[in-house]
Amino acid sequence: MIIDIKSVLSTIKNAKTIKALDDIKVEYLGKKGKLSSSMSELKDASIEEKKRIGKYINDIKTSIIEALENKKTELEEKEFQATLLSEKIDVTLDAKPGKVGKIHPITKVTEEIFNILKSFSFKFVTGPEIETDFFNFTALNIPKFHPARQMHDTFYLKDSDKMLRTHTSPVQIHQMVNHTPPIKVFTCGTVYRNDYDATHTPMFHQLEVLYVDKDVTFTNMKWFCMEFCKAFFETDKIKIRLRPSYFPFTEPSAELDVAYKRGDDGQFIIGDGDDWLEIVGCGMVHPNVIKNCDINPNVYQGFAFGFGIERLASLKYGIPDLRGYFDYNAKWMDCFGFNPL
Ligand code: DAH
Repeated sequence: MIIDIKSVLSTIKNAKTIKALDDIKVEYLGKKGKLSSSMSELKDASIEEKKRIGKYINDIKTSIIEALENKKTELEEKEFQATLLSEKIDVTLDAKPGKVGKIHPITKVTEEIFNILKSFSFKFVTGPEIETDFFNFTALNIPKFHPARQMHDTFYLKDSDKMLRTHTSPVQIHQMVNHTPPIKVFTCGTVYRNDYDATHTPMFHQLEVLYVDKDVTFTNMKWFCMEFCKAFFETDKIKIRLRPSYFPFTEPSAELDVAYKRGDDGQFIIGDGDDWLEIVGCGMVHPNVIKNCDINPNVYQGFAFGFGIERLASLKYGIPDLRGYFDYNAKWMDCFGFNPL
């Protein structure tokens, strides 16, 4: 078969698409292509002729391959330039908004309370989360087998009297054991109990306030509770009541309630209405507790109060189920309208 190499090369040169190049490749270089059949026609030729024509065919093959590759590169470059011209990037378009983190309601409420307590010149202190029986219970006037221990079932460390603290009240003991009054402190942190339902989680946060000095009275406590509520709920229109209660470490003890009503959308409106929300446990530090810390209760008195931060955050922001606080679900944060950082 005679191959007109000039015309093959010019067909390649004039090809308009990569598909056309592929067709040429198959036509000449494919298994059943023109070059293969030329080779098979040689089988009856003399050795001399085989050598000569074989070399000729190989040269043709090399030129076709080279021409195909060059043309392919040229067509690809053309295609690329055409795409560049047709695809325009509008640099003036707004960027897609990225995801921005939000402040967790517990952090937010904790910060709010920190600012309030600091404005009353309370000092922030901390205490251990692993406590001994003495600090968590006995010194707080909750001796072994006292029924109050039943509500404080926790996680115990094997073969010791150590446990995860069930409340932040032991920090009161650390302060009174280590300092002489006046003591005006607050603490906050995680506490642990063996509970799990919509209003209880095994780990939660409490905040505790302690003020010990000479001549501290229940009236001082009541005034402080009132001012605290005004600041926290951000309204001067606040109604509180102190309802008699029982805590082993305070005497007298009270629950602090604030008046509220429900708005049309079900939200709490604090300071209005005739319903009462319990928010804080409080009372005058029990003389036994003061004595347990080697302080003379005839000279020093104090008041204390403590509460769950989740509960207060729920009241302020209308969050019904405490378990959502610890689910790591960004949508949950969105639905309560917490603002980006
Ligand atoms: N420690 C109590 C609890 O976890 C809360 C409490 C009540 C703390 C009265 C106080 C207080 O300081 O005076 O249930």
